[in-house]
Amino acid sequence: MSGITLQRTRRVGLTATWFMALGLNNLANAQAAGDFVDGENSDLVTATCTRCHSASLVTQNSGSRDVWQLRVNLMQSAHGMPAIDAAMQEAIVGYLATYYGQKAAARRAALAPEFLPDNPYDAAD
Ligand code: HEC
Repeated sequence: MSGITLQRTRRVGLTATWFMALGLNNLANAQAAGDFVDGENSDLVTATCTRCHSASLVTQNSGSRDVWQLRVNLMQSAHGMPAIDAAMQEAIVGYLATYYGQKAAARRAALAPEFLPDNPYDAAD
């Protein structure tokens, strides 16, 4: 039992260290943690989209223009965001689709085998 517990603790510790390293790296590269990237209409998006939640709830997402349009609609139909006119809608969705557009892949590539932790399970065959 203690062997398993120890191994698990070590793995959690390593994973936490790994994520902390990633986090610090990202923080150093971001202009300020969680802020919208500077660009045309970034002030409008900041003013409109950070009234109820942080910018990072938005910027951790990506998507096409249609996807962002759906999200902006959802904020209004389900989350109580006041209605905005078509021009403002266009400016916000355009900004989001430009700076937080659809990524080629939403998930990172798999880790190389040498970076994977030991498999604690016996092979089935
Ligand atoms: C009136 C309040 C309000 C405003 C203004 C608002 N939101 Fe939200 N938003 C919410 C709430 C509530 C949630 C759900 C939070 C949760 O699930 O913890 C949310 C969640 C989100 C999510 C995460 C959805 C998911 O499925 O993970 C995105 C993306 C988002 N908002 C984008 C926007 C954008 C873009 C704007 C500006 C156009 C905006 N929000 C303005 C209230 C708002």
